[in-house]
Amino acid sequence: MLPSIALTLLGLLVIPNASAKVTIRKTGRAPTGYEVDFEYTNTTARRVLIGGGIQPFTDQFHTTGTSFRLNGRYDPHDYQPGDFYVSNPSPQLPAEPAYKWPYEMKKSDKGVWTYTTPLPSGIYSFAYLVNCDYAPNCSSVDTGQLVIDPDLPPFMNVPGDQVASSFQVPFDAQFQASPELNTNFDYALDAPDPGKNRGTVRTVNYTSPGSLHPAPDVHDFAIYLPAEYSRREPGVKRKYPLLYLSHGAGGNGADWENLGRMSHIMDNLIRLGLIPPTVVVTPSFYNLDNSSGLAEPLFIYGNKSNNVPVPPAAHVRENFEKYLFPYVESNYDVCQNSSCRAFAGLSMGGVLTYEMFVNATDKFDYFGMFSPATSGLSGYIAASDVAANPSLLRKGIMIAYGLYDFVLPAARDLQTALDGLEIRYINRVTPFGSHYWNTWQDELWWFGVKVLWKEVPTGVRTGRN
Ligand SMILES: *[C@@H]1O[C@H](CO)[C@@H](O)[C@H](O)[C@H]1NC(C)=O
Ligand SMILES: *[C@@H]1O[C@H](CO)[C@@H](O)[C@H](O)[C@H]1NC(C)=O
Ligand SMILES: *[C@@H]1O[C@H](CO)[C@@H](O)[C@H](O)[C@H]1NC(C)=O
Ligand SMILES: *[C@@H]1O[C@H](CO)[C@@H](O)[C@H](O)[C@H]1NC(C)=O
Ligand SMILES: *[C@@H]1O[C@H](CO)[C@@H](O)[C@H](O)[C@H]1NC(C)=O
Ligand SMILES: *[C@@H]1O[C@H](CO)[C@@H](O)[C@H](O)[C@H]1NC(C)=O
Ligand SMILES: *[C@@H]1O[C@H](CO)[C@@H](O)[C@H](O)[C@H]1NC(C)=O
Repeated sequence: MLPSIALTLLGLLVIPNASAKVTIRKTGRAPTGYEVDFEYTNTTARRVLIGGGIQPFTDQFHTTGTSFRLNGRYDPHDYQPGDFYVSNPSPQLPAEPAYKWPYEMKKSDKGVWTYTTPLPSGIYSFAYLVNCDYAPNCSSVDTGQLVIDPDLPPFMNVPGDQVASSFQVPFDAQFQASPELNTNFDYALDAPDPGKNRGTVRTVNYTSPGSLHPAPDVHDFAIYLPAEYSRREPGVKRKYPLLYLSHGAGGNGADWENLGRMSHIMDNLIRLGLIPPTVVVTPSFYNLDNSSGLAEPLFIYGNKSNNVPVPPAAHVRENFEKYLFPYVESNYDVCQNSSCRAFAGLSMGGVLTYEMFVNATDKFDYFGMFSPATSGLSGYIAASDVAANPSLLRKGIMIAYGLYDFVLPAARDLQTALDGLEIRYINRVTPFGSHYWNTWQDELWWFGVKVLWKEVPTGVRTGRN
């Protein structure tokens, strides 16, 4: 029990004596081989839905990248192999009674709300939505309806930085294997043999003049240190490869761990010998300073009415170059040259990665643009830029997006621009992918398998053996 976390959350989630839990059970029966029990005590609530990131299911024959409103939406009780979830922002999902949200809790006489559902392999983020009649509209903090599970607190630096807890369900080949699609996300489960294979992940504050959060002139990031890092012999200065991995619009540096299980993905990539032990830093690009000039520039995570603009990528790059990179590179045993440094990010973090590629080219040899939201860019680099900066041609690059991802057209335009310049990259189209965490997990995994610390530049042989 960590009730203090919930009690202090922005002062709005005042939930005295809140009690809740999630249990994952292997059942050995259809439809998925696993069931999940949610339990939440609230004696006064009228209705409780589960939301905060959990999604309905669909399949590839009923999903399109164009009309989310018309897509098939299935209750996980009706799960069939090959089903997956895609995110569905509120305007795109019909309200009740036209459509019934699947995750509705039932109340017992003692005020205990329960819900049991089969779920397939994958990560699920969730929060309890109290007295809510339309889940997508209650999943932000400003509605005052969202209650975080006090027994499963999110990974975060400061209370309020994350507004959903998460858990992961394993794959069961007997019930979930599909000839149509691989939906096995076990690469994001806890690695076996913890002492040997599991690294650590924690948040860190660093001095960043002008920063507004988490304190004046203090900014933060999360860092993953591989298992081997803590076992390195004193005096033996091994320098570990370093990946910077950015969140997207509306997010922060805790997202990749809380919502994407970054540390588990890294543990498994390393354990299976797909990459050498690697340090990962997940920075935060909001609140670096007050340059937006807004009266209240502080971005409150999950607050939909707090529409602080995404800071321009060049501005973020300059700030990171000044404060973040020197801090990380002088406080950890990380490598000191481009051949073992990478920058990657999702959505607006993919735009930031593009910015690093074109304007911090010599700092990194590897770039991962995951679902890059590049439609806002005024244009891409041209032949003259490549002539002026030929090292753009000598990098390890991945450009990835989901098949049902709204950035698909923009990401393809980016690919077309690079094709025209003969800049090669590894392509990943996530076949169950919308603009969401299961897609970004898949993209991080394949970035590790196919690109990270492999021979550069990326070419037609890259990832073939
Ligand atoms: C229970 O629901 C009420 C709304 O009826 C809400 O104000 C309160 O915070 C909830 N309590 C807990 C313990 O979650
Ligand atoms: C959900 O919120 C949107 C935007 O505020 C609003 O237009 C819509 O009517 C709401 N839907 C329901 C079912 O409450
Ligand atoms: C970072 O600073 C904030 C604000 O002072 C504090 O709440 C938080 O606990 C600090 N985090 C770490 C990891 O020291
Ligand atoms: C940010 O800048 C604006 C405009 O200069 C100012 O009004 C506001 O008080 C500043 N906010 C903070 C938190 O510094
Ligand atoms: C959400 O943001 C708005 C606009 O900045 C602010 O007025 C409101 O207090 C915030 N709500 C919460 C719960 O932080
Ligand atoms: C880069 O750093 C790594 C680790 O410190 C080292 O092994 C490698 O030789 C360096 N490469 C160059 C080109 O300096
Ligand atoms: C970033 O790179 C682009 C493409 O080469 C160039 O047009 C732009 O001027 C650069 N920006 C800065 C701030 O150097």
